[in-house]
Amino acid sequence: MHTSRRRAVLLLSAGALSACAARVEGEEAPGAALTPSEIEGPFFPSNTQIERDADLTRLAGRSERAAGALIEVRGRVLDANGRPLPGVVVELWQANAAGRYAHERDAANTAPLDPNFQGYAALRTGADGRFSALTIKPGGYLVPEMGQRRTPHLHWHVGQGGDRLTTQSYFPGEPANESDFLIRAMGDPVRRLIMAAGAAGAEGAAGFDWDILLPG
Ligand SMILES: [Fe+2]
Repeated sequence: MHTSRRRAVLLLSAGALSACAARVEGEEAPGAALTPSEIEGPFFPSNTQIERDADLTRLAGRSERAAGALIEVRGRVLDANGRPLPGVVVELWQANAAGRYAHERDAANTAPLDPNFQGYAALRTGADGRFSALTIKPGGYLVPEMGQRRTPHLHWHVGQGGDRLTTQSYFPGEPANESDFLIRAMGDPVRRLIMAAGAAGAEGAAGFDWDILLPG
């Protein structure tokens, strides 16, 4: 009797402990699942009104296409409970295939500009929370102030106003991810910024999928 009662107390304690652990995990999970923010960096376009459609590889009035490997970046914008968020503005900006931004602050970069590359898009999620863009894989580049190279990445603004998320996304299996100073600084949460390689996209583009989870 005594033994079984003690056993029951132990079982209860273990149950209480695991319930407690489950609650802590449950409390941490939504926040932990949110897409982390990352610095904007200095190269957000100074003029976003030139051309902003979802095909960054072609500019109106130019016959040639942007240089580089064609990629299709697809995503969903979701709330913390996984519900799609329609009508969310998603801005994407990036370096060209040679690792240069079409921005006056990148003028010292010796990599060439690409006159056929749009470099920026303003998208809006559909009723299912989805967005997509056809672009080229950006090159990595040296950050002179740091004396270090950035791994290939895309820059994002998701949403508008005070609730806007500013972040970056990364390519899976990229060797330079290991040494990228922003990835290293972020640690474990950065895995939510690494896109998944997926099915080929439009025109045979390499496809990458990425879900963005916003609070609220
Ligand atoms: Fe960048």
